[in-house]
Amino acid sequence: MHKYVPQIKMDYSHFKTDVSKRRRSAATRELTKIAYAAPHNVISLAEGMPNEETFPFVEMRVKLNDGSSFVLEGEELGAALQYIPSQGYPLLLQAMREFQRKAHSPPLWESRDIVVVSGGQDGLSKALEAIIGPGDPVLVQDPFYPGAGVVIAPHLVELIPVVQDDFGIDPIGLRETLRSRRYSGKKMPKIMYINATGANPTGTVLSLERRKEIYRIACEYNFLILDDDPYHFMYFTEEAPKSFLSLDTEGRVIRLDSFSKVLSSGLRLGFITAAAPLVASIELHMQSSHLHAPTLSQVIAYKLLKIWGYEKMMEHFRRIRLFYKQRRDLIAGLAKKHLHGLAEFSLPSAGFFLWIKVWGIKDTWKMVMQRGVTHGVLMAPGAAFMADPSQPCNAIRASFAKASYEEMDLALERLAILIREELVLGDSITDSEI
Ligand SMILES: Cc1ncc(COP(=O)(O)O)c(C=O)c1O
Repeated sequence: MHKYVPQIKMDYSHFKTDVSKRRRSAATRELTKIAYAAPHNVISLAEGMPNEETFPFVEMRVKLNDGSSFVLEGEELGAALQYIPSQGYPLLLQAMREFQRKAHSPPLWESRDIVVVSGGQDGLSKALEAIIGPGDPVLVQDPFYPGAGVVIAPHLVELIPVVQDDFGIDPIGLRETLRSRRYSGKKMPKIMYINATGANPTGTVLSLERRKEIYRIACEYNFLILDDDPYHFMYFTEEAPKSFLSLDTEGRVIRLDSFSKVLSSGLRLGFITAAAPLVASIELHMQSSHLHAPTLSQVIAYKLLKIWGYEKMMEHFRRIRLFYKQRRDLIAGLAKKHLHGLAEFSLPSAGFFLWIKVWGIKDTWKMVMQRGVTHGVLMAPGAAFMADPSQPCNAIRASFAKASYEEMDLALERLAILIREELVLGDSITDSEI
């Protein structure tokens, strides 16, 4: 297991909730950790592990799309079907440490740690729940991923929306928001939730200049940055985005990776990379919830990383980028064809989504959620992504990730009909457009 070297000066107790501070480790989980790290001659009667001989599985074969394959059997299969330490399958953790170091060259690397979580959603809920409590203000890009909204909402926090333009959060607006907040004596935020690359739903990518400035602001106003970055390798820009983690000289970035969009969403694997004391809090939370992310998935991911290595994984990501970029261009062409005179959109720079702003309609909710299905088209209404979902929103999020060209063509044709009908029905038309 990785040895933590404390080089970071930050006091994380300021950021943790009382609940998080009160968490204690489970002796049984600690024993599993000890057993995994112990020499082979140590006989453990300490744990409640079932005997793998009773399991019905004897062999699993996995074939990869490059023709290579691997087999899980014997001891390795036994390990893949067992309980493991909450932090993750040790071999995968080691491989991910190497991966993160190469991909991000993070400063203060020896003071950081990784915990394997069950997808980015699990990671963001565990990370946020370690930090936010009732009355805490949280900075969010507006619009933002509703999966973060549903984590935040029950904690009775105050959302501080930060408006985005076509290039993501504008640091000038962020600084202004914080300055006026401090001036009026309001409680200051401990954390900002952001997708720096391929913001969901708008598809923006923050420039390096903006990232640096936002990071400077985080240092100045002492908040953490939770960079939920599942589209990190799915950018359509010339240059690869530089992650917040790679800029983090103070230890205030919590980086969330997910294998969902690049290997399989069914594996349910994500990774939190952060300062070791924050990772330790999250591990304790896992000890009290689902114990660990699925071992079988972790072993499969480890074998893949081992067979492919870093370079082949990057090659895979490059292919994925081209795949989705082509689709992005296809849907943009179709949207131009069908929605001409009805709506506008910016070309997404990363991710899966086209953010369409409909003209002349104040709120798309009813149109999409009620009349959409009867017209044979389903898209996500913009209000679902807004910091204040009770406010009307004229946008719609359309995914270009999975549907075929013919399906996207038909969906946008149907959307155009839906919009035209809505304009005639008139119950959600903006005052200014009438
Ligand atoms: C920004 C963002 N975060 C997190 C998730 C959750 O992904 P998963 O839990 O599958 O990693 C998604 C999925 O769409 C997402 O877009």
